[in-house]
Amino acid sequence: MGRQLKLALIGVGRRGRGRLRVYSRLREVFDFIAVCDKDENALAEVAREHGVRTYASVRDLVEKEQIDVADVVVPGDAHHVICHHLTSAGVNIIVETPLAPTRPMCDLIIESARRNKVKLEVAENYHRTPLSRFQMAVISSGLIGEVSRIYRIFYEGGYHGMSMLRLLAGSQPRSILGITHSSPVVPITDLMNRHHAQENLQLSYLEFQNGVAAIMAYSNVIHARSLGRRAAGIWQIDGTKGTILEDGIYYTPPGDYERGARATPYKPEYVATEVNGAQVLERIVLKLPDRTVSWENPYTRLGVGEMSGGFGRAHDSVDVTDELMSIANALLYDKEPTYGVQQARLDVEMDLAARESALRSKVPLEFPLQHPSQVESEIHERFRTEYGCDFDKVDQLIDVWFPRR
Ligand SMILES: NC(=O)c1ccc[n+]([C@@H]2O[C@H](COP(=O)([O-])OP(=O)(O)OC[C@H]3O[C@@H](n4cnc5c(N)ncnc54)[C@H](O)[C@@H]3O)[C@@H](O)[C@H]2O)c1
Repeated sequence: MGRQLKLALIGVGRRGRGRLRVYSRLREVFDFIAVCDKDENALAEVAREHGVRTYASVRDLVEKEQIDVADVVVPGDAHHVICHHLTSAGVNIIVETPLAPTRPMCDLIIESARRNKVKLEVAENYHRTPLSRFQMAVISSGLIGEVSRIYRIFYEGGYHGMSMLRLLAGSQPRSILGITHSSPVVPITDLMNRHHAQENLQLSYLEFQNGVAAIMAYSNVIHARSLGRRAAGIWQIDGTKGTILEDGIYYTPPGDYERGARATPYKPEYVATEVNGAQVLERIVLKLPDRTVSWENPYTRLGVGEMSGGFGRAHDSVDVTDELMSIANALLYDKEPTYGVQQARLDVEMDLAARESALRSKVPLEFPLQHPSQVESEIHERFRTEYGCDFDKVDQLIDVWFPRR
């Protein structure tokens, strides 16, 4: 490793706080020097615990500090405003998802980063989790043949879901049909402290250029996981030769195909090793009669991937570590970030297209989504009403305290 990168965190709300533990594991790479938020109490707490300098304004932060990377974890409406200010000052960025709520807002960030020659990564994390990496290793091994259909009824949808469907399908989207349905539920407050009195279901049917089809259902209440069976949902990938259901692989050895054999479910083994007194995931291994498929955790040595939850799964921020290492490696070795803005923009476009299709009474839409879309016009109108100016008046918006959504 050549040098430590000076890192500032912008936004220490629900998501931003989770970063602090990950930074402490990445001290070889990052020197966490400053934090910025409009919330004085949150700033005081982080300063007390981490001994970093605090700023209530992004303007002051970039004026007073020499930062290599800013980790932007403010509400989505603020991403283009804050990223534009940072890129104009030559600061490299990792920004939370979504890149921005609409394509023109995304493009404002992308264009500004290009003009100012700074590196930009988006913190899309779902494909970086151990389970997703393992599922992708199974697909790449050819074990389930060619992917044909994906079902995702999940506690998170939107751009995260679109990202996963696209990566698992291994292709660009061709068309989408979106359907919405609302129904009453008893008032609830979810784990993210969001309040709901109505369930809003979003259903999408997607076709990819390589012929893969995907069905995704998501609702605000599935996210809450407080009603119904409290389960995350169903996550199934069907291939021409087998199926992946969560971490179970349904597979039939080739010799048995013509003998009416049913697929046998195989479960992988989660192999852990001790790091600083904790059991940390080292690899996920699937042993079959005729082959072995595995995924290795690149961050075991750092103690990232602590086994927890009793389900034999490692959580503990392998995904967040991986996205931070993406921007670090991009800077240290002058490479492109591993996810990148074009994929993140496409995730936003796919999510918007699903909503646009539902708005237009369930009309299937082809990609790319036509400009201007009704759904984006409505978001821009909401922005004008809420903040008193157009979204592209970034200099006017830089001092706004963007509200929690
Ligand atoms: N990848 C994921 O799985 C995931 C999960 C949750 C949230 N997110 C994303 O993380 C981001 C933050 O979400 P959250 O739930 O933590 O929101 P939050 O509202 O809890 O936190 C946002 C923080 O930003 C601060 N802020 C607002 N305006 C600011 C400004 N002008 N300057 C400096 N600070 C400002 C707020 O005071 C707050 O502390 C959003 O983009 C969200 O979409 C991603």
